[in-house]
Amino acid sequence: MGKYIVQGGNKLSGQIFVSGAKNAVLPILASTVLNSGISILKNVPMLLDTMVAIDILRDLGCDVDYGENTVIVNSKNMNKTTVNQDLVKKMRSSIVFLGAIISRFKEASICYPGGCNLGKRPIDFHLLAFEKMGININEENEIIKASVNNITPTTINLPFASVGATQNIILASIFVNGKVIIKNCAREPEIIDMANFLIKMGANISGAGTDTITITGVDKLKELVEYTIMPDRIEAGTFLCMSAITNGHTKIDGINPQYLTSLIEILESTGCIIHTNKNSINIKAPNVIKPIEFLETKPYPYFPTDLQPQIMSLLAVAKGTSTIKENIFEARNKHIAELNKLGCNILENDNTFIINGVDNLTGTTVFSKDLRGGAGLITAGLFAKGKTVVEGACYINRGYENLDKKLNLLGADIKYIKD
Ligand code: EPZ
Repeated sequence: MGKYIVQGGNKLSGQIFVSGAKNAVLPILASTVLNSGISILKNVPMLLDTMVAIDILRDLGCDVDYGENTVIVNSKNMNKTTVNQDLVKKMRSSIVFLGAIISRFKEASICYPGGCNLGKRPIDFHLLAFEKMGININEENEIIKASVNNITPTTINLPFASVGATQNIILASIFVNGKVIIKNCAREPEIIDMANFLIKMGANISGAGTDTITITGVDKLKELVEYTIMPDRIEAGTFLCMSAITNGHTKIDGINPQYLTSLIEILESTGCIIHTNKNSINIKAPNVIKPIEFLETKPYPYFPTDLQPQIMSLLAVAKGTSTIKENIFEARNKHIAELNKLGCNILENDNTFIINGVDNLTGTTVFSKDLRGGAGLITAGLFAKGKTVVEGACYINRGYENLDKKLNLLGADIKYIKD
């Protein structure tokens, strides 16, 4: 599993560059099966999840080389349409391979990705949309078999702005004979990045980043495409929360501040001074963190659920009581009991969390149960007196590249201990 050992109390200062976005590179790696050719991806974060996606591509028969944050995929010799079950179970976002493989081969099969520590995480929106697109879906013993003669041009009204469903529908529509329109789709920047990659590959997609995306089918894609992955806004937001809790003064480079307006507003309300320019965010933390009366997570451009544990840790040491309502995942709460072991005073009432600020936290051993929950525990450990051991580093390393190196560069005292 691995662990992080944090000696709390150091102020973060200096500057760091964020890595490429995990939640952009995963759907983009799935997209590389579409062109039966070569995709050269730059600024790829070499994360555990990236390696799972590479293993899936190789298992499907693609040739994949990588090094120094560059991944080269040649999907010409892809010879399988069944996604490896063990790998899918490791990473639920592999469900987007379904849409990409159906597009190219008109058939695909994948096991149910299953839930994780955030909740059930069903895929009903994906499958309902596929059925409306004329795709035959058979489910047997947790295996989804999909096949289609030709994708039906149609309009999909998503019941919720699901990121994964939006991505899957786009991927399944690339070669449609006509148009597929997605209404109430996700507007996350990672959707825009995936669409930009596909457009560079020769796809015809408009409206990415708005609540309506139109895919006009094309006959063929370019057999060679090169693309640089966007920066990771959640990693950047995590470092901003870590700077704020340590009374730090840091500059986060390589990030478009527009992707984080909701977080920046909240951090300014806690008393942080924030200056931004085209691709960096400068934060100066206050001596005393002000509480936030009410904050809720919602789809982009509102406050992202992926920063909920991190902002919770900051508010846990504010002067007063804050309230957070988690609207996206029914079980993004496994970090709360662990934070309370450090001395936080956080109460849960369904998916509403009451955070009574405390003056001190004391280091101890805590267990991360999911990626962002683990990041929240490290955030609290940077503040806590003494040593905090965060077990379950394997979860954290799914989404953060060289986290210890970057934090040590900023003056933190953190060690990563492999098992
Ligand atoms: C993506 O997950 C991200 N993962 C998540 O980041 C992120 O938290 C989430 O979007 C929301 O922004 C990747 O991009 C790899 P959803 P995804 O479909 O696509 C329900 C991280 O920490 N739902 O928008 O799975 C679902 O259960 C990860 O980096 C259905 O009910 O999210 C959830 O409650 C965690 N039926 C909500 O919608 C469906 O068919 C949002 O899910 C699909 C989703």
